[in-house]
Amino acid sequence: MKRILVVGEINVDLIFRHCEALPAPGREVLADDFIVTPGSSSMICAMGLARLGNPVSFHGKLGADSWGEYCLRALGEAGIEIGSIVPDVALKTGVTASLSTPADRALVTYPGAIAALHADEVDQHLLAAADHLHVSSYYLQTALRPGCRELFARAHAAGLSTSLDPGFDPAQAWGLDLLDTLHEVDLFLPNALELASITGQADLLAALQALDNGRTRTVVKRGSQGCATLDGERVLELPAFAVPPVDSTGAGDSFDAGFLHGWLRGWSLRDSLRWGNACGSLSTRAAGGTSAQPSAAEAQALLEAMP
Ligand SMILES: Nc1ncnc2c1ncn2[C@@H]1O[C@H](COP(=O)(O)OP(=O)(O)OP(=O)(O)O)[C@@H](O)[C@H]1O
Ligand SMILES: [Mg+2]
Repeated sequence: MKRILVVGEINVDLIFRHCEALPAPGREVLADDFIVTPGSSSMICAMGLARLGNPVSFHGKLGADSWGEYCLRALGEAGIEIGSIVPDVALKTGVTASLSTPADRALVTYPGAIAALHADEVDQHLLAAADHLHVSSYYLQTALRPGCRELFARAHAAGLSTSLDPGFDPAQAWGLDLLDTLHEVDLFLPNALELASITGQADLLAALQALDNGRTRTVVKRGSQGCATLDGERVLELPAFAVPPVDSTGAGDSFDAGFLHGWLRGWSLRDSLRWGNACGSLSTRAAGGTSAQPSAAEAQALLEAMP
């Protein structure tokens, strides 16, 4: 089994569910339910991989505070190796407040320690203990971003394969440096909006072709429409699974876990895409990114029921 190192951001989601309305300035609204749950893209992906039975280690930054303790405990209880994570008294762990009504959602994020991780903290020992390196949230990790290409190059030199989920760019600048970084990325996992924004191409085939650099396989996530990738000169599309969605937070990160689960085992492209869809779709069954992530047996059962 391939050992996976996830390097990335750590934060907590505070989810206020079934709010009466989104609050207007100066007003207070009541929520019907509240949960605290592991929140960041990297953590959700790492926990999804662990839930599927993969050996996972995680490196990232957090504060020496109760949210940091909460995240370390969640990662540890998921069976993830966290020996390299040292809580930093100078930092505060990042937090997202998510307010949802049946119709809409509003988010506020305090990035905290997310912006403090540097690529050179990922030492050769961490890389040597893994077979694959995954990074999420390229645009949020402002200190990691300039060293990201070199980190992936070091991973390749150490014999690892690499994957990147860009996440959204809050500045919506997207940046040409990403295209340079992709030369050291084997698997690129944007969603449809991110792919269109990065390439400037609304058409799926044109966007996928624009990123075809001879090395990187791009798999694009399309919400309830499933996913797609280039297959020669055409687009291979695989539909999502019809699961009554409760909350799609983190579905993309659970998709990444499912696709990697198949891809790292050398399964076919089609099977890996189906595993991604199964894990993404199943994760929408409950609120928060991690509580409904499937085991391998659960994903397998869905795939066998819907060949
Ligand atoms: N409403 C839905 N019904 C069924 N499957 C879904 C639904 N939403 C998402 N999925 C599954 O999850 C996968 C990833 O979702 P999505 O495209 O929303 O990723 P994303 O935008 O990166 O999500 P996030 O960044 O919030 O984790 C989809 O490819 C699909 O397989
Ligand atoms: Mg995403």
